[in-house]
Amino acid sequence: MNITISDSIKYIGVDDTTIDLFESQYVVPEGVSYNSYVILDDKVALMDTVDKRGMEEWEANLMNALGGRKVDYLVVQHLEPDHAGSIARLVELFPDVTLVGNEKTFQMMPQFFDFPLEGRTLTVKEGDTLSLGSHTLTFVMAPMVHWPEVMVSYESSEKILFSADGFGKFGALSLTENEDWACEARRYYFNIVGKYGASVQALLKKAAGLDISMICPLHGPILKENLGYYLDLYNTWSSYEPESKGILIAYASIHGNTGVVAEKLGEILRQKGAEKVVVSDLAREDMAEVIEDAFRYDRMIVAAASYDGGVFPCMQDFLHHLQSKAYQNRKVGVLENGSWGPTAARAMKATLETLKNVTIVEPTVTIMSTLKDSDMPNLEALADAML
Ligand code: FEO
Repeated sequence: MNITISDSIKYIGVDDTTIDLFESQYVVPEGVSYNSYVILDDKVALMDTVDKRGMEEWEANLMNALGGRKVDYLVVQHLEPDHAGSIARLVELFPDVTLVGNEKTFQMMPQFFDFPLEGRTLTVKEGDTLSLGSHTLTFVMAPMVHWPEVMVSYESSEKILFSADGFGKFGALSLTENEDWACEARRYYFNIVGKYGASVQALLKKAAGLDISMICPLHGPILKENLGYYLDLYNTWSSYEPESKGILIAYASIHGNTGVVAEKLGEILRQKGAEKVVVSDLAREDMAEVIEDAFRYDRMIVAAASYDGGVFPCMQDFLHHLQSKAYQNRKVGVLENGSWGPTAARAMKATLETLKNVTIVEPTVTIMSTLKDSDMPNLEALADAML
């Protein structure tokens, strides 16, 4: 993929369009990109490598960009294998390369690689700089903006922020050139970085002090224009504030009856003037997409069948994901279905009650097997309470 950054900074990343599941859990119908950049100055610095799945193509891109020069520095902003997967190959190609990272980077690096680190490392900390000639990198620590060793780098002559996983997005660059950024960036953010909102907030505060004209993340497109839009969205997402007014109804239905109730409730909410209603089937839709919507909107209703004295497993799984991603600051309604001794509401509430600043909206609605006319007043009452 031929992407222009500037005369002296080249994109050498690769698209992965054949991966089945990113991180063995996220469907990526349009693939994903592993971004890597090279800065050609008096000294040559490489900004991260790529997943080993893309190593051969990346190596060809690198050699082409170098035009016979050698790599002086490899800046390791993130050690996760989707970026660090080709470090050993780089060291093989350029045994004299200096690896630039922080204390945590080099604590963890031997867990992944067996080449000796001695004499090969430059350990940096917050605010340290590295001069390459006319380009200077300043390192900004970003612990837990996905992993503890993460740092980002600011190049001051061209005002470029190399942002590691921050501002990343699913989607191969060659397949998503004209695609809206927010949809897959949001799904990426909440599922991968969502738990670490406080860390992202800390990084955004540091970034606010920098004059940034371009953001170069490790996944997804290079952001060159209207940067306030992306920064504002990241601020909203990382502060756990809803992005839009709306209601997600997430349902878990065994034979379809709870699904019928969920769709009916959606219809009632729309009739009553809800700004936006999204109804999602947890058993069949992409769980990561539903999690994204849970964070996107300010309200949610969970509707589920009872099962084995608890709740149907895909709902338990969904709530567990929300809990681990630090879902908070929302109003949630609860609806259960049961054919004898309904248990789903109790099980769902047990998880919901552990979440910070989540208000459970009453009434809790109980359906016995199928929707009846006699259930309608309860659905109306729940809808009214949600609006
Ligand atoms: Fe793209 Fe946290 O790795």
